[in-house]
Amino acid sequence: MSSNKTLADLCLSVEPLNAQLTINDVADRLLEPAYKGFLSLPVVDVDSRPLGLVSRYRLQNIFMQRFGRDLWGRHPITEASNPESLIIDVDTPLDRAANIITAQLQYPITEDFILVDSTGRYRGLGTVMDLLRAMEKRIGQRNKALQQALKQLKRSQSHLVQAEKMASLGQMVAGVAHELNTPLGYVKNNVQLLGELVRPVLSLAEQQSQLMELLNDPHASDEQLTDAFTATRQAADAAAPAQLAEDLSPLLEDTLFGLEQIAELAVSLKDFSRLDRAMTEAVNLNECVHNALVIARNAIKDNAEVTTRLGELPAITCTPSQINQVLLNLLTNAAQAMDRPGRILVRTWSEMDQVHLSVEDNGRGIPESVQKRIFDPFFTTKSVGQGTGLGLSISYQIIHDHGGRIRFKSEPGRGTRFLISLPVSQSPALSRSA
Ligand SMILES: Nc1ncnc2c1ncn2[C@@H]1O[C@H](COP(=O)(O)OP(=O)(O)OP(=O)(O)O)[C@@H](O)[C@H]1O
Ligand SMILES: [Mg+2]
Repeated sequence: MSSNKTLADLCLSVEPLNAQLTINDVADRLLEPAYKGFLSLPVVDVDSRPLGLVSRYRLQNIFMQRFGRDLWGRHPITEASNPESLIIDVDTPLDRAANIITAQLQYPITEDFILVDSTGRYRGLGTVMDLLRAMEKRIGQRNKALQQALKQLKRSQSHLVQAEKMASLGQMVAGVAHELNTPLGYVKNNVQLLGELVRPVLSLAEQQSQLMELLNDPHASDEQLTDAFTATRQAADAAAPAQLAEDLSPLLEDTLFGLEQIAELAVSLKDFSRLDRAMTEAVNLNECVHNALVIARNAIKDNAEVTTRLGELPAITCTPSQINQVLLNLLTNAAQAMDRPGRILVRTWSEMDQVHLSVEDNGRGIPESVQKRIFDPFFTTKSVGQGTGLGLSISYQIIHDHGGRIRFKSEPGRGTRFLISLPVSQSPALSRSA
């Protein structure tokens, strides 16, 4: 950016008037093309040191007086010039010049100022209008730079949101892998057991088919048939179909339950890992609670027992992956606030055109001294590696972007309750911005 511009960039080269000239001489000069358009003319001494400015209006005033020309015409021009004109170093940076000039300005806008070099000699003329124009241009440039910085900031903020999400997901993934292992373990055992239970059934089927073959064979001997019958009966005893039916049903039920748990984890994980930020219609907030609880279950279970009281909710328009992120943070915050195993209560209810969700814990609470700061980015009371301090500031941003509110009430030593209120439908502007 052109931040090192000085007054030299605005310097108009105007031939200065010699102090010895008379008012009459100058009146004639003012008509010359070289001076056309200038409202004032600089007057200098023999050493080129400025003595002041003569304004066109001042001369006009003199000549408009009765006998003005005769009375004043032969006087030196210095008598018509303003010795208190602004004189300023041509190397002064524009910003500083604007400050100095506006502080000393007597006739705003129309006033001119004299530019001198470092030895104090005349260099040229500057006009307030040009200075204003230059400043306006600079403000425009700065605005542009600011807007660019803002854009950049917004971009890095959205990266930060993603990074925080990935970090919390990373923590969760270990827990979810563990969660997956339990049902996987017994599904595998059950399938092995089923394999063993089915083996005698297969050999019974084999014996039965041999018996059928013999029965259809006209050359089969009685002895062969008796042996086949005995073998089939033995196989039937070994297979114990009645017992098998009894064993199979709970085994299959158990296996199915395990598979359902695995599927549920997979669905929740899929919802969480979605990176899209589009608003979706008809989202059931209770489902988000359910997903967040499935994902957070392992991280929470040693610290707290979770109870849910989920009310009937109208479907809302929101970005589910973002709402999940908020819930996950509230749940982990609550679990991490426990000094000993405690309780977390998650409630949802609706009211008019809003849905509400509260996460309540009976943990250590938030000291009054830090309550004002918990939504600040990077504010954390957790040790390195436990928290980045971004959870609540991002949650705040997300809820705000949804046109909702997030509030809390905390009693140190007794617990904390976070309350989120979201509008059922989004205003068109918010949906677009999301
Ligand atoms: N339920 C709560 N009980 C007690 N303190 C809380 C609770 N929720 C938040 N806090 C306090 O607010 C701070 C900021 O929370 P926030 O979720 O923004 O960051 P964090 O949990 O420390 O780190 P991150 O969420 O990035 O892992 C926490 O460090 C904690 O001191
Ligand atoms: Mg947190």
